[in-house]
Amino acid sequence: THAVTIDLCGVNVAKQLHVGHLRATIIGDTLARVHGRLGRKVWRENHLGDWGLPIAMTLAALRRTGTDLGSLTLEHLNAAYRAAQLEGRDAAAGLTAARGTHAGPHRIAELEAQNAGAAMAQEDARATLVRLQSGDAELVAAWRLLIDCTMREVFETAETLGVHLTAEHSRGESFFREELGPTVEAFVNAGLGGEDDGAIVVRYPDRERPMLIRKRDGGFLYATTDLAACRFRVQTLKSDRVVYVVDARQRDHFKDVFDAVRMIGWDRLPDGTRARLVHVPFGSVLGPDRKPLKTRSGENFTLKALLDEAIERGTREVRARSASPDSPTAGMAADELAAIGRAVGSAAVKYADLGSDVTRDYVFDLDRMVSFEGDTGPYLQYAHARIAGILGKALDAAAHAPARPPVSVAEPAERQLVLAILRYPQVVREVAEHNDPSRLCAYLHSLATGFNGFYQQCPVLRCEDAAVRAGRLRLCAVAKHVLRDGLGLLGIAAPERM
Ligand code: ARG
Repeated sequence: THAVTIDLCGVNVAKQLHVGHLRATIIGDTLARVHGRLGRKVWRENHLGDWGLPIAMTLAALRRTGTDLGSLTLEHLNAAYRAAQLEGRDAAAGLTAARGTHAGPHRIAELEAQNAGAAMAQEDARATLVRLQSGDAELVAAWRLLIDCTMREVFETAETLGVHLTAEHSRGESFFREELGPTVEAFVNAGLGGEDDGAIVVRYPDRERPMLIRKRDGGFLYATTDLAACRFRVQTLKSDRVVYVVDARQRDHFKDVFDAVRMIGWDRLPDGTRARLVHVPFGSVLGPDRKPLKTRSGENFTLKALLDEAIERGTREVRARSASPDSPTAGMAADELAAIGRAVGSAAVKYADLGSDVTRDYVFDLDRMVSFEGDTGPYLQYAHARIAGILGKALDAAAHAPARPPVSVAEPAERQLVLAILRYPQVVREVAEHNDPSRLCAYLHSLATGFNGFYQQCPVLRCEDAAVRAGRLRLCAVAKHVLRDGLGLLGIAAPERM
């Protein structure tokens, strides 16, 4: 059977992970887990933005200032990246503006000097890129340090998020650098790539907008890399399904890439099967003002900052609950409580993200997300822990019951719970088919609610009839198992006590 490729995360070297990458990472992780559960070989591909002029520019600037790349933090690296970008852009724009408004000669001279500095920086960046491209050992080593610096934080955040993402999943843009020329050539030879004012574009029979694959100056583009990467995933990784979990704003890009790949036939596996190429276009995360989430100073939130806050809230909630003497967590050690708090905080953020319709924007509302009530991650974790508590109390009695006692479905609440449990495999298949984790979230929520209804209607521990009691306990155990398994597919931990 063929493999499935999931394009997830997609961070860029020298930039911090922001909330957009949160979605690409956790939705991708869940889809990967679900396909894996269905027995498919899964390739997690982090199409890391690790190649091109902006990175060469940052590298050149850092080397000019003699920065020690080995001990660089991502925050500093990100600042250097922004500074290098601005240096190039602002001086030129400022000069044009100053000339246009007839600014004084001093101002213009100042800007001209800046502009000369910017021109030099750009020259340096281009020279750096050329040396990098030709495999200059010293520069390649320096460039690797920038990647390591970026990925250290990415992997750390992935771990906190319970996302399975490691170095083996990084196949960045640089991996395809030797394929870019041949890719353009292949399109030209197939009569699909044509010249346009010195550049090379792919044209489509059904629309005006062509796709640029080689610039006039000979440079390749994001799209060129994606063409090569798509071919690799289908023909080398032998995936009959390639799922791109990327921001909805890249819709046109993927439409263009997929159509081009189909036109040239690179969606064909070695055995002739045609691969399904799918873009899962997710919406933005919004702040309370319904605008893209920003910090007070107007910057994009880093993922780490959001997660840290969610974990802090989760931990506070868990601690508060453990203070009540009849709580299952009463008297628990501080580090155990902290671990539960981390699980709750991460579950809050992930469930809110996975549970909403992927394509839609949603408002990031931490108060609602960390609540133990309502359609939240902590609610599901709590339902799971509650069943664990019931089973714990019944342990002694269960030792004498048959291993698989018959389950009674005499009561409507029992019947409903059984039916909900039986739907699970079908739900998992649907999530894979539609690339839609929110179906699993909705299902688990209804299962938890169904369980609570059952537990209210049907006495378990105090049930008089030993056979019915044993059957109900078994029902509890199966419901717990499914909840735990489903949460596991979402990458959400299920603590035994809360
Ligand atoms: N690095 C890109 C960005 O930040 C996302 C990469 C998505 N994957 C892809 N195959 N194009 O926009």
